[in-house]
Amino acid sequence: MATPTAEPLNQPLAEGSVGNIGLSGGVRPVFAAIADERDRQRNCIKLIASENFVSPAVLEARGSILTNKYAEGYPQRRYYGVCVNVDVTEDLAIERLNQLFGSTYANVRPHSGSQANQAAILALLTPGNTILGVGFGLDLKAGGHLAHGAAVNLSGRWFSVVSYGMDPESHLIDMDQVVELARTHRPKLLIAGGSAYPRTLDFARFRQIADDTGAVLIVDMAHLAGLVAGDAYPSPIPFADVVTSTTHEKLRGPRGGFAKKINSATFAGLQGGPLMHVIAAKAVAFGETLHPSSGTCSRGVAGNCRVLAQTLTDSGLAMTTGGMESHLAVVDLRPLGVTGNIAEKALEPVGITLIKNAMPNDPEKPMVTSGIRGGRAAGTSSGFGVDEYRQIAAPMLDTPRALRGGTARSRARTNWWASARPRRSLSAALLTAMMREPVRI
Ligand SMILES: Cc1ncc(COP(=O)(O)O)c(C=O)c1O
Repeated sequence: MATPTAEPLNQPLAEGSVGNIGLSGGVRPVFAAIADERDRQRNCIKLIASENFVSPAVLEARGSILTNKYAEGYPQRRYYGVCVNVDVTEDLAIERLNQLFGSTYANVRPHSGSQANQAAILALLTPGNTILGVGFGLDLKAGGHLAHGAAVNLSGRWFSVVSYGMDPESHLIDMDQVVELARTHRPKLLIAGGSAYPRTLDFARFRQIADDTGAVLIVDMAHLAGLVAGDAYPSPIPFADVVTSTTHEKLRGPRGGFAKKINSATFAGLQGGPLMHVIAAKAVAFGETLHPSSGTCSRGVAGNCRVLAQTLTDSGLAMTTGGMESHLAVVDLRPLGVTGNIAEKALEPVGITLIKNAMPNDPEKPMVTSGIRGGRAAGTSSGFGVDEYRQIAAPMLDTPRALRGGTARSRARTNWWASARPRRSLSAALLTAMMREPVRI
């Protein structure tokens, strides 16, 4: 193995050729768009639950020359020659992931969270089997994910999908309904985990239901992985047959996914050559997550959630389920008389990015919605703590309040209102934190 040096990993190979011009010297519109996006990201408070900030080391590995290498097959069993270096990175990624979650098996190949779910489904089901998952199959308002059986998704087109939902009063997952549906439909696959559920999932109960009805159990922990790794949320590993996740949401890795237990379905079932530069970046991210400070960060995410939730509820807003135990909050804006899409747009110029989200049994259309969904992982990666999250609550409340009862015309003035107000309520410390490079954990 080469001795590591401090030299940049992405040195151009030959001088003078077109292919050797760096991004700033050649394809300027792309360079400019990336520079603008960098400024945008550095100047906003990111509450989009599925986004995060990667470390410089992850970024470096993701942009490295490993993208030049083809490596079909798995470590030490490749269809391509000279894979010795990429074997090192893939072995490391697998080893670190197993160490993180106390598992014995991992596949770090999936290009995304959806593909991790597809690989699991391909490995376990045949077309026509029944999937029982949280609402997206039939009722997207319950907060499931596309890959769990949405009609437009492969999972919904090739499989028969039954969805469980939330109790209409408490908005908690109705576990009695899960039992009833599992007994009635005898699904081949039971899925736990979704995109908008802020409470603790009862993995033991899901396991029991799967065992009683002859189903296999997949837990999709995309929104939970970082918290699970940091012991800030219960682990599904002892209970699930397969656990899937994204790597970019809570683990601060490159965009991608992982799954536990599904080698041949991933390659050659769904993929040809793996993205070795991305796998290397995953190895780096998993290594960072193994660092003891990462656990502190996960618990910080959980603490920041509670503070923001408390501040919003003290001001009269309601959260789905009345609480939160993950990093997610789905906030009902109806007390403010504003829809989710309007609030999303209005908060953008204030510097807060989050997304509209349907409430359970939401009467509004999916592109309108009655709520917003926010997550705390990205802000916590930027160094925000309890004080910052307390301050963030103020513009989150003031902006929709300013729109209350507004006509379409006064709503159009939102942009003016928002830009007149930006950041005035934010402290110098918060502004400094916003301008800081993402910290390494
Ligand atoms: C629960 C869940 N699973 C899977 C995914 C999909 O990830 P990707 O966009 O990488 O396909 C998401 C995305 O947010 C998610 O919330």
